[in-house]
Amino acid sequence: MRTQMKLPLFYQILSYLIIGIIVPADVTLGIRFPNPISQVSGDPPDELLKTAVFALGSFWRSESVFGCLDGVVRTTVGYAGGSKSNPEYRSLGDHAESVHIEYDPRVINFRQLLEVFWSSHDSRQVFGQGPDVGNQYRSIIFVNGTEESRLAVVSKEREQTKSRGSIVTTQIQQLENFYPAEPEHQKFELKRNPFLVQVIGNLVEEELEKSRLAAKLNGYAAELCPPRIQTRIDGKLNEIIRKGWPILTQV
Ligand SMILES: *[C@@H]1O[C@H](CO)[C@@H](O)[C@H](O)[C@H]1NC(C)=O
Repeated sequence: MRTQMKLPLFYQILSYLIIGIIVPADVTLGIRFPNPISQVSGDPPDELLKTAVFALGSFWRSESVFGCLDGVVRTTVGYAGGSKSNPEYRSLGDHAESVHIEYDPRVINFRQLLEVFWSSHDSRQVFGQGPDVGNQYRSIIFVNGTEESRLAVVSKEREQTKSRGSIVTTQIQQLENFYPAEPEHQKFELKRNPFLVQVIGNLVEEELEKSRLAAKLNGYAAELCPPRIQTRIDGKLNEIIRKGWPILTQV
């Protein structure tokens, strides 16, 4: 008797659960999301882009910091600065967690990227960054050529003069190899926010890695965009939610 009374309720709950799993979240939000779209237009041609690589603690965070800047077109996290070949997250050897940045030099330059680098971490912390302890979180400016090397040295000296009480630990190294990290580490902050992933059209992994918009929203998700950009994206998302017709193609 008891089981007979309980079974229908059990199935009812089960069916709700199944509907909840099968019906995509966009329907339940009252928003219809189109199918995945490809790359947004307006990127400068690849020949024009320059690259920079920095290590400044956890690469999830580093990617967020740089991805949101105007002029940054693509970001990739990976391993650099060591000698181990084919490093992996669980065995990265002597490499540092790094972010590889492709930028449009007409909009942002290496010197400005250096300013963001210094202001986004504690270059005086020894053997780690914030709560992350270990050699993989060390601070490195990777340079390519003498001009970048000069800019890096000058900016490090300036940083050191801000306080004599401790040493700036940042290393300056010629960039040799950059090994991209495993897909699950790319755009990590963005992927933690399924709404944002949907709003840009559920890009597949490869598109996420190349997308300028994904790089921006990865910064937004971590609340690491410059305030002006953070506010602009807030506004666009609010508009999408209000209209119920959505797709964010540009921020
Ligand atoms: C260094 O810069 C040159 C041109 O500016 C480029 O062709 C080369 O690929 C860069 N090297 C690395 C390791 O990024």
